[in-house]
Amino acid sequence: MRDTAELDAADPLAAYRDRFVGAETPLVYFDGNSLGRLPHATRERLRAAVDTEWGVDLIRGWSRWIDLAREAGDVLATGVLGVAPGEVVLGDSTSVNLYKLAAAALDARPGRRTVLVEADNFPTDLYVLQGLAAATGRTLRVVDVDIDAGVRADAVADALDDDVALVCASHVSYRSGARADLRAITARAHDAGALTLWDLSHSAGSVPTPLADAGADLAVGCTYKYLNAGPGAPAFLYVRADLQAELRQPIWGWFGQREQFAMGGTYDPVDGIERFCVGTPPVLGGYAALEGARITAEAGIAAIAAKGAELTAYAIDLADGWLAEHGVRVATPRDPARRGAHVTLHHPAAWQVTQAAIAAGVVPDYRTPDRLRIGLAPLYTRFADVAEGFGRLREILASRGYERFPATPGRVT
Ligand SMILES: Cc1ncc(COP(=O)(O)O)c(C=O)c1O
Repeated sequence: MRDTAELDAADPLAAYRDRFVGAETPLVYFDGNSLGRLPHATRERLRAAVDTEWGVDLIRGWSRWIDLAREAGDVLATGVLGVAPGEVVLGDSTSVNLYKLAAAALDARPGRRTVLVEADNFPTDLYVLQGLAAATGRTLRVVDVDIDAGVRADAVADALDDDVALVCASHVSYRSGARADLRAITARAHDAGALTLWDLSHSAGSVPTPLADAGADLAVGCTYKYLNAGPGAPAFLYVRADLQAELRQPIWGWFGQREQFAMGGTYDPVDGIERFCVGTPPVLGGYAALEGARITAEAGIAAIAAKGAELTAYAIDLADGWLAEHGVRVATPRDPARRGAHVTLHHPAAWQVTQAAIAAGVVPDYRTPDRLRIGLAPLYTRFADVAEGFGRLREILASRGYERFPATPGRVT
């Protein structure tokens, strides 16, 4: 096996680890794809925001807070998502943003009755689209996917016709980490006259998101994963600049209103990305998203993705070399261009192994039906952590120590 001290010494991002709270502790944290670590800068920012801005400034703070959604959106746009300022805004949850943009897209294609979605998209995406289809008399057409290989462009192409208004897919699959061909799927959708709506929750902050190259239309994503903005932090949404004027989202709130403080009685959406905003922004979560996006932008997506590819390759080597003989199979694509920054392992007792790992100070997570997800957030994960964590997994599997844990999945976050 490769020398982790050498790999860590050669890591150009190594210094970023010290910028995260708790990174120095013995906990092996493999769940940054679900909830990222707390940056020191964010802790300081939130302390100042609470003590000074809320504690002292009170309502006077709004002169600063009012533009936060856009300010964070611009950092996300230019430093994380590779699109232009004014194409991204922060606010609401990923689920709500998906609803807003999907509804706006359906309104923009009134003659088309079908929404296309991949079968293994994140459940909230499926539910939101099911609800929207039911409410608007549309049909949801579900593209079958292999849960490990992820959604394929040719399968989407086969399912497209001139009745499809919108194609919705995840860029990186939450379950297997498979990375979809965003460019090819967007091109096929556009050939058929449909719009595209990408869920970037597992790719924002881990791999490049080629929205601009692809001419992708719409996207949403979480900030609490690789962007380290904390539990329940607001999500982002992206709308390509030239589409903004023609789209109207369905929740007509005062933060999307032209001359908001004129307090006019009739909704008239502002020009630009703010028309996709709804109500008062969550300021504390907004600051956390801003700081998280800044760290990611500073490190650079190219460097983050390069390290993610190496960390996941190393994890796959260890899974093959140490865990395969104990019944583990790598479920994530082996081509680094086809995956994000998490590696998913199949094992029949995945739930029990996950619980045993957590008890042993290694935190992966579990996903149905029998998968362990190993999230390797590049900003703070060392190669030494991967070796340590996989070493403990090997012991758990070899000793069958996991059999002491309940076999039935409990509550999963
Ligand atoms: C791919 C993906 N989309 C959407 C969501 C849901 O986001 P939210 O609960 O913030 O609406 C998640 C949450 O983990 C996710 O992984």
